[in-house]
Formats: sequence, C-alpha cells, structure tokens
Amino acid sequence: MEPMNKVHKRWIFWSLILSFFIYSFVVYTSGTEFPKNSKQFTSEAKLGKDTFQKYNCISCHQIFGLGGYMGPDLTNVISDEHRGENYAKAFLLTGTERMPNFQMSDTELGAIIAYLKYIGNTVEYPVKNSTTTWYGTIETKSDE
Ligand code: HEC
Repeated sequence: MEPMNKVHKRWIFWSLILSFFIYSFVVYTSGTEFPKNSKQFTSEAKLGKDTFQKYNCISCHQIFGLGGYMGPDLTNVISDEHRGENYAKAFLLTGTERMPNFQMSDTELGAIIAYLKYIGNTVEYPVKNSTTTWYGTIETKSDE
C-alpha cells in the first residue's frame, strides 16, 4: 500500500475536526428538554420539600427508592391511580399505628402534597414503561 500523502492526511485531519464540531453541537443541543408532563417546581412545592425535611419523612419513606424502609415509597403516591391526593392526606391528617400524626398546619399539608405531586409528575418509580434504545440509553414513556 502506498504511504498516505499530505493531501490524505489533511483530509482526514479536517474531517475529524468537522466531526468534532458536529458531534459537540448535537450533544449540547439535544436531549435536555424538561419532561413535557412535569409541573414546574413551584414555591409551594419548595415549601413542601422543606416541610418534608422538617418532619424527616425520609427516615421511614423512600423517594426514587432511597430512604428508610418502614413505610412505602412515596415517589408516585399522588400520581398513582390507586392512591392519590386524598389518600395521602388521610394518612397525614390522622397518622397510623406506625406513622405519627404530625399535627401539621393546612399550609404544611398542602405544601407536602404539592411537593409529592411535583415528584410524581416528574418521574415514575419503579420505572415500568421503559425501553432500551438501539444506541444504548433508557427511554421512559409516560402514560399521559
Ligand atoms: C416513623 C415512621 C414514619 C414517618 C416519620 C412518616 N411515615 Fe408515612 N407512613 C409510615 C408507615 C409505616 C406507613 C404505612 C402505613 C402503616 O403501616 O401504618 C406510612 C404511610 C404513609 C402514606 C401512605 C402511602 C401509601 O402508599 O400507602 C403517606 C402518603 C405517608 N406515609 C406520608 C408521609 C409523610 C409526607 C411524612 C412526613 C411528613 C411521613 N409519612 C412520615 C411511617 C412513617
């Protein structure tokens, strides 16, 4: 085989440079959209996050599967068709034998619900409707 001449080398060099710019452009401009069905993180949801921390709900519950394991995962407690807002409120207002009644104010209660709603609208846990794309990433489909 003939050794590569200068023209060949230049051609390869510049096509690699061009590929780099195209690749960078694609990587930095795609795949960063906010999920369409998610609500923004409102100030009420923000207060709910603080309240969630204040009462240390995570010591017994999990979000995205992380947390304590005495109570159930709360990621989709609001978005789940079998549970929902009133269901969650009932637990928070009365407590159970194992979960304390925190005697929280209506503001705190509403805020925690807003926070849990925000989480449930953003993600699904455990992930049910996911497929692996041909290029190796996981894609989740929302039901809505
Ligand atoms: C001491 C542990 C503990 C703490 C702290 C706690 N919980 Fe619970 N929670 C439980 C247990 C256990 C259950 C399951 C019901 C039962 O067995 O009594 C539960 C049930 C729930 C449910 C119903 C979930 C379902 O899917 O059935 C919700 C909603 C909930 N808790 C929210 C909260 C929130 C919000 C906080 C913080 C303000 C909190 N919990 C703090 C123990 C706790």
